[in-house]
Amino acid sequence: MNLLAAKNLSHSFEYELFFNVSMELQNGESIAIIGVSGSGKSTLLHLLSTLLSLKNGTVSILGEDISKMSKKRLAEIKRRVIGIVFQSHYLFKGFSAYENLEVSELLSNQKIDEELLKKLKIDECINQKVAQLSGGQQQRVSIARVLTKKPQIIFADEPTGNLDKITAHEVMELFFEYIKNVNAGLILVTHEEDLAYRCDKVYKLENRELKRLK
Ligand SMILES: Nc1ncnc2c1ncn2[C@@H]1O[C@H](COP(=O)(O)OP(=O)(O)OP(=O)(O)O)[C@@H](O)[C@H]1O
Ligand SMILES: [Mg+2]
Repeated sequence: MNLLAAKNLSHSFEYELFFNVSMELQNGESIAIIGVSGSGKSTLLHLLSTLLSLKNGTVSILGEDISKMSKKRLAEIKRRVIGIVFQSHYLFKGFSAYENLEVSELLSNQKIDEELLKKLKIDECINQKVAQLSGGQQQRVSIARVLTKKPQIIFADEPTGNLDKITAHEVMELFFEYIKNVNAGLILVTHEEDLAYRCDKVYKLENRELKRLK
């Protein structure tokens, strides 16, 4: 069974963004999506991750069609199966970084992994208020928040956009380690081609189509 299967998705807001988009994500696999700004990458990620209603096509998660799921099952999938690293971080700004992780801990019944905080180099700023952290630190806190949930599918929208090249590669290494260790899957949106090509498959959204590059 696939972790995720998308068939013939198309979507438009003011105009058609893309059509006939299909892809499959297997256990232990990573997929990158690249494409110019405005091509619809975030929109596609939102469709795949149940945040946006499908207009055409189907998405199945763990073999279940998301449009046929009960509200309860969909909420369970959002809480326990998928983890989303947003392009804008959506942390609770008035809380400390650690308190943000505690929310994930509570919602998913998982323990915060202190080792992970060290690997992400946020162990020393973890008690500061989010609003006092740099953009890159906030980005790493939002990654820690998602990994704390131990999701089976990670959707990450430009998760390293605020990071220098070296830190970006280190952070990606953590994602890859995570998916190999727990046999999860990753769908990554990025502008950085060298990061994209570290994934098992690479797709590009171009001229309203999703083309396979690797
Ligand atoms: N909720 C919405 N309502 C109307 N239009 C939208 C909405 N969300 C996105 N769009 C439009 O869809 C297009 C694609 O947006 P999207 O955010 O998916 O692009 P992207 O490829 O992620 O770009 P970037 O690389 O800049 O993040 C844009 O023209 C955007 O204005
Ligand atoms: Mg985007």
